[in-house]
Amino acid sequence: MNKFQHQPSPSAPIGVFDSGVGGLTVARAIAEHLPNEQLLYFGDIAHLPYGDKSSEAIRGYAHSITAFLLSEGCKMVVIACHTASAVAYDSLQERFGDQVMIVNVTDPVLATVARSNISHLGLIATPRTTRSEVYSGRLSLIAPHIKVSEKATPSLASIIEEGMHRDEAAIKAILTYYLNDPLFEDIDGFVLACTHYPIIRHRIAEHFGAGVRLFDATHTIALEVEELLKTANLLASAIVEESYVPHRFLVSDHTTTFQETAELFFGRKVVLQHHVLD
Ligand code: DGL
Repeated sequence: MNKFQHQPSPSAPIGVFDSGVGGLTVARAIAEHLPNEQLLYFGDIAHLPYGDKSSEAIRGYAHSITAFLLSEGCKMVVIACHTASAVAYDSLQERFGDQVMIVNVTDPVLATVARSNISHLGLIATPRTTRSEVYSGRLSLIAPHIKVSEKATPSLASIIEEGMHRDEAAIKAILTYYLNDPLFEDIDGFVLACTHYPIIRHRIAEHFGAGVRLFDATHTIALEVEELLKTANLLASAIVEESYVPHRFLVSDHTTTFQETAELFFGRKVVLQHHVLD
């Protein structure tokens, strides 16, 4: 039985949004895992970064974007941004939850953590995400035995956007600065709670070594999206060439720098189109 007011078509796009182009790490995982699906990506570059905005401002942006994705007929909305997932998911559910499935990047990752045998979880994210205490709060409900140590890494996303992670010595020094913290001394699990961090996952793995299991919101979210669509009978069927519709990538502000960075995150050619929300 469909719980939504309107039954979307399986061929409708999956809406994915983020504060910028970092959320393309999540979009990429979905596109690779579910190649028949068409994505409608919205990057809110005009309001980037969300990481040090107020919760109220982020909720306002998230509401406008979700309303837009619904007006475009999306069958699901994925909040690829960790900061928006942390502070806007509940209010988006309240406002739009009877119209469309909404997926955040927090809960599926925490469910995976809860099923693991981790006892002390470290986490890095934007200042707004860590201040929300959403990760520790939600994990305490499903796995209260797991201790959580969170730390804000305010510049790490922009360092990656700038491409500084390509310099091995620089990224090692930056990770030493952020991660050599007594907080993380005896962790056995670690969450990369920001869209950008999967790009340097191997460097973080090197930093902590084999004793620390890493969790991020790429493949885990793709699996969650698949499961939810399957349950709702909304998985797209195999693409026939004539009906192929390419992914669309919209941004609320367009610059050549973001055009270049987008390809780093999506791993292949992306054409960003400027789209201003009403
Ligand atoms: N997309 C944001 C996140 O995942 C990082 C960039 C920003 O601060 O907007 O938290």
